[in-house]
Amino acid sequence: MAQIGESASAIETHKLRKTYRTITGKRVVAVAGLDLTVPRGGVHAFLGPNGSGKTTTIRMLLGLIRPDSGSMSVLGQPIPRALPAVVQHVGAIVEQPKFYPYFSGRENLIQLAMAIGVSRKKVDEVLEAVQLTERAKNHYRTYSLGMKQRLAIAATLLKDPELLIFDEPTNGLDPAGIREIRDMMRGLGAQGKTVLVSSHILAEVEQVADTVSIIGRGTVLAEGRVTDLIAAKDSHQVRVGLPATSLAAAFFALQSSGFDVRGEGSTLLVTGADDPAAVNRTLAKAGLYANHLVAEKAGLEKIFLELTQNETPGGQQQVAGPLVHNPPGAAGPPPTGSPHPDQSGAASSGQEEN
Ligand SMILES: Nc1ncnc2c1ncn2[C@@H]1O[C@H](COP(=O)(O)OP(=O)(O)O)[C@@H](O)[C@H]1O
Ligand SMILES: [Mg+2]
Repeated sequence: MAQIGESASAIETHKLRKTYRTITGKRVVAVAGLDLTVPRGGVHAFLGPNGSGKTTTIRMLLGLIRPDSGSMSVLGQPIPRALPAVVQHVGAIVEQPKFYPYFSGRENLIQLAMAIGVSRKKVDEVLEAVQLTERAKNHYRTYSLGMKQRLAIAATLLKDPELLIFDEPTNGLDPAGIREIRDMMRGLGAQGKTVLVSSHILAEVEQVADTVSIIGRGTVLAEGRVTDLIAAKDSHQVRVGLPATSLAAAFFALQSSGFDVRGEGSTLLVTGADDPAAVNRTLAKAGLYANHLVAEKAGLEKIFLELTQNETPGGQQQVAGPLVHNPPGAAGPPPTGSPHPDQSGAASSGQEEN
């Protein structure tokens, strides 16, 4: 037990893999060699489209299902072996929790508190933490979805866990409910607890997450501090607007100088360009002049969409991502190649068989 509280990561998985067999005998790869690192303290978003393996991963971390292969640790302890020791330090909401409809919120929590040997004082404390004190005496069945979810969170806080795992906690909530949950997660992170929150909607976690793992088809596509992910993308992306007649020539001039170029509508998006001036110089050398040239703020949303646009279950259909066009030109430019080399790897590993 001494080690709990000392490891650098709250959660680590290594080559974690899980396949399901459907009733028809078909094998579904739900988690395909997942290497996940969740640092201690703060809010970590576990972000991926529906069907990308978030719930499956969380269920494995909680010992609810067994992986086919790979390893996991939670709070520095191997899972599932050390589950009995770890479980009291972890609070989780994976499925809709069951509460008694004709008990009040407070009575429901008292039941749970007695079951795990926690005082009534703690019940009042956690009700306060989720701002349910005033409604705590009302029957659970009268609660809004947001209040139900807050009560569920209060229940996970009873044993004062170091690590909280919430699987899509804002599903079905209205904007006010989403904000309440978000504030609560931020508060827990600020207290030094680790909160792992899964979502398929970036906007619901973007403002609250300190760090993020973006997954698609059961593998990690990008991971790190939200600010670093955005900064890394920012410094490397330049958007160039040119007269329509120069677009194709500019495309080839930039490409032959080693830039990674994509046409997007009437502009070119140059990635791998550390310095907008270098892009401008290349164009000037070719006798081409830009209407505008902007180092772009990619934003986490764009990164998320780009990384996951081919990662929806069943293949290549696109989610509402940026529309990518090739530049106009008589001959038509060559294929622009994959701007995301990690994507093809993730896609093929998703189809791998054991
Ligand atoms: N019990 C199950 N039996 C068969 N396939 C499943 C089962 N649970 C999940 N899957 C499949 O595994 C993949 C990952 O699912 P899941 O972990 O629920 O993703 P997410 O939580 O990211 O939406 C999906 O293709 C899903 O259809
Ligand atoms: Mg899920």
